[in-house]
Amino acid sequence: MNITVVGLGYVGTVSAACLACKGHRVWGADINPDKVRIINEGRSPIVESGLEVKVAQARASGRLLATCDATEALQHTEICFVAVATPSRPNGQIDPTHLFRACEQIAEALMSLDRRQTVVIRSSVLPSVLQGCDEIFSSKAPGRVTLCANPEFLREGTAIRDFEDPPFTLLGVDDPDAELTLRSLYSDLEAPLFVLPPREALLVKYASNAFHALKVTFANEIGALCRETGIDAHAVMSVFCKDTKLNVSQRYLMPGFAFGGSCLPKDVRALLYAAKQADLELPTLSSLLASNNAVIDRAVRQICATGKRRLGLIGLSFKSNTDDLRESPFVDLAERLLGKGYELRIYDPNVSLARLTGANKEYINRVIPHLSRLLVRSLEDLNGCDLVIVGHRYQGVDGFLSDAGVSVIELSDQMPRSQTMEAVAGD
Ligand SMILES: NC(=O)c1ccc[n+]([C@@H]2O[C@H](COP(=O)([O-])OP(=O)(O)OC[C@H]3O[C@@H](n4cnc5c(N)ncnc54)[C@H](O)[C@@H]3O)[C@@H](O)[C@H]2O)c1
Repeated sequence: MNITVVGLGYVGTVSAACLACKGHRVWGADINPDKVRIINEGRSPIVESGLEVKVAQARASGRLLATCDATEALQHTEICFVAVATPSRPNGQIDPTHLFRACEQIAEALMSLDRRQTVVIRSSVLPSVLQGCDEIFSSKAPGRVTLCANPEFLREGTAIRDFEDPPFTLLGVDDPDAELTLRSLYSDLEAPLFVLPPREALLVKYASNAFHALKVTFANEIGALCRETGIDAHAVMSVFCKDTKLNVSQRYLMPGFAFGGSCLPKDVRALLYAAKQADLELPTLSSLLASNNAVIDRAVRQICATGKRRLGLIGLSFKSNTDDLRESPFVDLAERLLGKGYELRIYDPNVSLARLTGANKEYINRVIPHLSRLLVRSLEDLNGCDLVIVGHRYQGVDGFLSDAGVSVIELSDQMPRSQTMEAVAGD
């Protein structure tokens, strides 16, 4: 394939050299003449293990040429990757100046060459910035650009290995021809390839980096607490990482409602108390309960915004398939709604059963008698509500909701149904 790579920094040079070494013809474009010269001399403009050899090989084969002239680079290519920097502004916002300038240059080159082009953004950007790129192409090269995203996940230091053996390849594309071209470009990789609409693909990159940052801060905070209390943090975290069912796994990673139950809130509080006793600041762990509470705040706001007053709540226990109400976020939600004067009916088959059979009866009567009185026996008892809030999807809920034709708020509405219960689960 004939490929252009605009921006010859860490991502661009690694991509250009690796693609050329795989047999593609690659034109690399950069506004920095020093980088262009260094690459054309067969050297690497950055320090990256193995890259010097790759660039030398690519140059020697005649399949990599660097230039400062975007028009020259775009003359013959089927696909144009853009890998320019997208740094932060002082307020944290992405500074799209380099990217937008690169898009303008590509648009001008395509107009002067009278060509169409698939342009693939490799830089890390949020959807609003991609939208900005789209607007540039629409105004400066109307009808000539199919814009896609292909976020890069390589890490400096292991960039070549990561490029050749990524965890997955992710295409953000909604054009079938562009998808075919990109699929064939990556067909030699063993890693799975995922295709998402561009906006979702871009967010995968940001979610990944935020999660990596979260993992580092989490591990460091556990490490700090262990150190202060004379515990071997490496022994703790080594075994922690061996749990690939709950700890290092998909579990708890689907967006849903707040956590609760008899263990998570209590144990987080205990850790924070131990940190306080050790005069330790643990900002990540300290934010957990506030973040969890914010989930309930958002639900309350969403419910209030509907203007409906007669509410039905399906699910009261902290997760489905249990009658355990201790620190249930649904109890909290119900209490907040009652406090605001809403009329509320609650259906939870497990809690009703427990109230009748005595399993959790004492707790229900002592701690939440005000909610206990609102429990109804069947879904049909929710008829007449203006709005039904679905916390747990018990059997029959789907059918009831479609028959009732009532407004619904799905507290776990962002996820596939099958994942709902997993994500809500606390302990
Ligand atoms: N560095 C990484 O490990 C890494 C990993 C994954 C994703 N990313 C993302 O990839 C993007 C690029 O990162 P990087 O670290 O390679 O950046 P970088 O700063 O190393 O390189 C950017 C290059 O773009 C060039 N450039 C700027 N404006 C240009 C223009 N108009 N035309 C042509 N070239 C231009 C610069 O001269 C520079 O050589 C960023 O969005 C970054 O967030 C980086």
